[in-house]
Amino acid sequence: MPRHVAVIMDGNGRWATMRGLPRSEGHRAGVESARGIVTRCRELGIEHLTLYTFSKENWGRPADEIKFLFDLLVRFLTKELDTLLAQSIRFKVLGELDELPLAARTVLSRVIAKTAHCEAMTLNLALNYSGREEILRACRRLAAKGLASEAVTEEALAAELYTAGQPDPDLIIRTSGEMRLSGYLLWQSAYSEFAFPETLWPDFTPACLDAILADYCNRTRRFGLTGEQIQA
Ligand code: IPE
Ligand code: IPE
Ligand code: MG
Repeated sequence: MPRHVAVIMDGNGRWATMRGLPRSEGHRAGVESARGIVTRCRELGIEHLTLYTFSKENWGRPADEIKFLFDLLVRFLTKELDTLLAQSIRFKVLGELDELPLAARTVLSRVIAKTAHCEAMTLNLALNYSGREEILRACRRLAAKGLASEAVTEEALAAELYTAGQPDPDLIIRTSGEMRLSGYLLWQSAYSEFAFPETLWPDFTPACLDAILADYCNRTRRFGLTGEQIQA
């Protein structure tokens, strides 16, 4: 079983358009998929789940779609706080909170604080996220500490990322058949396994996740070693 699963929840817009619905309906349906996957990961004992919720580049979308997404996020978190607590899920955000609309910032800070003691699983939402920005931010933080060049190690840099203290994702899933990272977890994905199901995110069920996990279990991760070394 992977310790850390990261998902790029893609295809909401296409799901809606195929049905003659506005894109917002795809996002609404996508939230239900997210709820199902969080619950399934918690049942399976996956320790860290990261969901790509909003990229830095997504600020370029129409204003009404952005507003809908953040309103949806606020409603979802307000409603789900009790469930997160009941399931002992710690909630975190990967991304700069300060740049988010006030209502979102307020509820996000509240849910982060209230679930800080939870230990069964960590749920990260990558929000206002860019992998390159995250790496640059870590470099700036190291520079601000005045580190000597030989002290700039992989460990020191990883400790300044939003994911500090969490293992790298073992498995990255992107739905909707797109095969790219779109800036997701660029540092952390160095040795991740990938799955690119064709399913659009609103159609992605816990059974779809189970099938991908079954496939993941049959893979051999080599980390640069030979097959024989891995056997030993
Ligand atoms: C993913 O679905 C959700 C976000 C990026 C917020 P999209 O909205 O990207 O859906 P498509 O790719 O247009 O189908
Ligand atoms: C990536 O999806 C971001 C999220 C799923 C939140 P996009 O739909 O924004 O990515 P591109 O633009 O197709 O690469
Ligand atoms: Mg998309």
